[in-house]
Amino acid sequence: MAVLVTGGAGYIGSHTVVEMLGEGMDVVILDNFSNSKPKALERIREVSGGDFAFEQVDLLDSEGVERVFEKYDIDSVVHFAGLKAVGESVSIPLKYYHNNITGTLVLLETMKRHGTKRLVFSSSATVYGVPKTVPIREDFPLSATNPYGMTKLMIEQILGDLAKAEPDFSISCLRYFNPVGAHKSGLIGEDPTDIPNNLMPYICKVAVGQLEKLSVFGDCYDTHDGTGVRDYIHVVDLAKAHLAAIKETGERKGIDYFNIGTGTGYSVLDIVKTFEKVNGIKVPYVITGPRPGDVGSCYADPSKSERVFGWKAVYGLEEMCRDAYNWQIRNPKGYED
Ligand code: NAD
Ligand code: UD1
Repeated sequence: MAVLVTGGAGYIGSHTVVEMLGEGMDVVILDNFSNSKPKALERIREVSGGDFAFEQVDLLDSEGVERVFEKYDIDSVVHFAGLKAVGESVSIPLKYYHNNITGTLVLLETMKRHGTKRLVFSSSATVYGVPKTVPIREDFPLSATNPYGMTKLMIEQILGDLAKAEPDFSISCLRYFNPVGAHKSGLIGEDPTDIPNNLMPYICKVAVGQLEKLSVFGDCYDTHDGTGVRDYIHVVDLAKAHLAAIKETGERKGIDYFNIGTGTGYSVLDIVKTFEKVNGIKVPYVITGPRPGDVGSCYADPSKSERVFGWKAVYGLEEMCRDAYNWQIRNPKGYED
């Protein structure tokens, strides 16, 4: 019995596969390398000392996906594959809707045909839109502020309808907050193809001199130092949440939703200061105007995940900053080195 990991060559997928192999699980990765590199697969083997099957298939290719389900005895699916750049989703929305929604529909139809009914889906805190209060609970109102967020919301809706129509399906939507950091080996990590949009990869590139300085987007928010507050979570903690979720999902029917965060909010300047302290390096920055669409504070109430599947983040901000920088200095050009 194997677990199919779509998008397993990507940032979160690669860390999750390492944890799965560490637990002796039988893994099949499906990826089209649209936002990842084959080298990541070599590195997963190196870090874990384990092995897995790999299929280079696009989820939009229904015959290719069908072949994967015919070839392997797939018991459950962890579905990471999707496009995730918010800005790009605004400029090329149809590509995002097609890839994320159609890709998921192809996957679900194939799962249904083959009687594979256990699914863990990568959702996002973006489904909470602009939260009225923090910490955010799973029962807060949902909305989307961009096409990327809308694809996550629409997929959650599709999965909810599927779970109603097919009561044998077991589905978990994991709503990630802000994944950062890397495996402590420094062998796998986040490898943005362009100038990063997200804070931690941007800081890493400033720290190694590839970018000149960080722009801190606004210092007038209603937070302890005026800069934006987020719930950063170490990617290895996030990877472990998937193992707990796969187990719990198999023990119940229907659909459920879980926040995956630490429950602690840190500001942009908290991150800069901690990064400088643990890595002994300066991160030059300037304060600029706020980024359109940003909210002041966004952090999780993650107590449901702990209560229902016994998962809790263990890594703190220092480990997140240390491991992110370790990956960056060991791989200045990402997987190209
Ligand atoms: P990533 O881009 O590193 O990984 C996604 C992987 O999916 C890539 O390897 C890509 O090649 C693959 N892929 C994309 N479309 C595909 C398709 N049609 N067929 C086959 N493979 C395809 O992204 P990530 O950071 O690892 O994120 C994984 C998931 O988690 C995504 O669904 C993302 O939206 C979600 N998520 C990410 C974050 C974050 O900050 N990284 C936050 C919340 C949610
Ligand atoms: C972004 C996405 C969100 C996605 C999340 C996790 C947007 C509008 N939202 O959110 O959909 O779920 O990443 O992948 O892109 N910051 C700076 N300077 C920078 C970069 C960021 O000051 O160069 C600040 C931001 O204003 C924010 C914080 O750092 O306060 C974190 O930003 P980021 O890493 O982009 O994450 P989110 O804004 O939470």
